[in-house]
Amino acid sequence: MAYDFDKIARTYDRLNRVMTLGLDCRWRKHAVRGLKGEVLDVACGTGDMMVELTKRGAVATGVDISEEMLAIAKRKSPQSTFLFANAENLPFEDATFDAVTCAFGVRNFVNLEKGLGEMMRVLKPSGCLVVLELATPDNALIKPFYKLYTKFIIPLFGEKIAGNREAYTYLPESMESFPKGDAMVEILRSVGAKDAFHRKFSFGVCRMYTVKKG
Ligand SMILES: C[S@@+](CC[C@H](N)C(=O)[O-])C[C@H]1O[C@@H](n2cnc3c(N)ncnc32)[C@H](O)[C@@H]1O
Repeated sequence: MAYDFDKIARTYDRLNRVMTLGLDCRWRKHAVRGLKGEVLDVACGTGDMMVELTKRGAVATGVDISEEMLAIAKRKSPQSTFLFANAENLPFEDATFDAVTCAFGVRNFVNLEKGLGEMMRVLKPSGCLVVLELATPDNALIKPFYKLYTKFIIPLFGEKIAGNREAYTYLPESMESFPKGDAMVEILRSVGAKDAFHRKFSFGVCRMYTVKKG
């Protein structure tokens, strides 16, 4: 079952900045580079990707299944369009968007392939999909520290800042088993990506998948 983000919406941005030491903002800036035209941001949350997209002149539409996250996003990006909609059943015609983005959202999908397939469906043939997701780093020196950080420190931040330890215990648990790197690229190919590659940020703590449809 998908995690209910309504519970942590109010403190979500602050916790992101603290947990990633502000790196999440840099990762999003990289992800939106070169994206133009009509862009759909799936699982838009509190709208940080939408802010970056509109700064670069894109016309952004955001979808999410958390009313509380959407309410914050609407305040941050009043010029954008927002819809309460599930990534696994997007309410758009085939080939509608020039680009689709999804930052830290795919790990929450109930059916990953279905969500990715929907994003590919609504993308124009010349379009580009960019997915950002957190991952456990491969580096043998960094991995143990990262595991300790996500297992003990992040839940503590969750408790102190969001008053919700459980939500931030779910993060490392869901990250551990989630496909990353080449495994994710394979899944993207299986849902129709013609060309897909990935890039690591910050020792692989964050992965960016760039997908060309045609
Ligand atoms: C970790 S937050 C990421 C928010 C934002 N994209 C960002 O960059 O911070 C995950 C978001 O995915 C949304 N979400 C989870 N499952 C979803 C689904 N099936 N369809 C649409 N949104 C979903 C949640 O409500 C939440 O707002």
